[in-house]
Amino acid sequence: MTIRHHYALDHLNTFGLHCMADSYAEYTDFNDLTAALQTHKGGKMLLVGSGSNLLFMQPEFHGMVLHCTNRDIEVVKEDETGVEIKAGAGWIWDDFVAYTLKHCWYGLENLSYIPGTTGASAVQNVGAFGAEAGEFIKEVECVDLRNGELKILCHDDLDYAYRHSFFKREEELQQWAILHVTYRLSRKFTPRLTYGGVLKEMERRNISADTLTAESLRELIIEIRKSKLPEPDEVGSAGSFFKNPVVPTSQWEELKRLYPTLVSYPAGEGLMKIGAGWLIDQCGWKGKNIGLAGVYEKQALVIVNRGGATGEDILRVCKAVQTDVFKRFGIQLQPEVNFID
Ligand code: EPU
Repeated sequence: MTIRHHYALDHLNTFGLHCMADSYAEYTDFNDLTAALQTHKGGKMLLVGSGSNLLFMQPEFHGMVLHCTNRDIEVVKEDETGVEIKAGAGWIWDDFVAYTLKHCWYGLENLSYIPGTTGASAVQNVGAFGAEAGEFIKEVECVDLRNGELKILCHDDLDYAYRHSFFKREEELQQWAILHVTYRLSRKFTPRLTYGGVLKEMERRNISADTLTAESLRELIIEIRKSKLPEPDEVGSAGSFFKNPVVPTSQWEELKRLYPTLVSYPAGEGLMKIGAGWLIDQCGWKGKNIGLAGVYEKQALVIVNRGGATGEDILRVCKAVQTDVFKRFGIQLQPEVNFID
């Protein structure tokens, strides 16, 4: 474990914003992490995976950045229906998804090509095409940065919900360093096809549900993502900037009456989830810029760095979008990205 001082985080945030950290430590295990924590004499701490959900609001971060590079992988349990795989928190998420599919361990195919790391998947509960990482997470090995203690949190402790986990509770934010995540995957491929244009894409390619393999579903998902979302090394963004808002059915009924093409999905008893991309698009934001930042032309949920933007530039677009959506639909959009001061 080496600690670097005055370290540039530009390659560690997919918005591509410029930010210098006072110090930066990579860790692979508990001992590394403990040693890094011993050198930390006050100030803030920030856990960074590949920075695909971070928005640096300042060009400097006064504190220590911790980055896990552990890429262990181990089958810890198996039976005839499935396997439990313990993975280091430093795996690139999509490499891990590809690895699981190569071994015929199924479940993660709809989560293909999401930027980020295995560690971040457990924190953010990343989700796409009707699946969420939290559904597959059995336990997380992590260190409480407040006291340096190693803990194993199991699925029931982790409080997974849409874009939410135990680690995202206000009092727990940035307090946990993840070391390993154990996923439970299935030996049987059970495709989920009903969300986000998957069936339409299958039809276009003449693929029927009975000839579909997990690998071909992965390829489809990757193509759909590539057609809508910018590649982080070409255009800076954090994927979806906002969460899809969840509203009471009564509010949804009123909106649906006024706007029959409203995009929405059931979200549990008495609740509906509304497509934030649709709301933003209706307000005419697609492809629009304010200075050096703007809304992506192919997907209104995504705020992009047009080159040389600062956190303030991105925030200006965020606020303008929120104001317009609120004025028109009475819905307050909540950002999905984590703002770092
Ligand atoms: N829509 C528009 N205009 C737009 C964008 C979307 O009209 O500019 C409409 C489309 O008709 C579409 C609907 O809104 O049917 C929903 O849009 P889309 O499927 O593109 O996005 P989403 O389902 O709301 C969620 C995740 C994405 C994930 C997709 C895959 C959130 C906040 N986002 O988007 O996650 O890839 O599902 O199904 O839940 C991410 O977190 O970074 C991310 C990209």
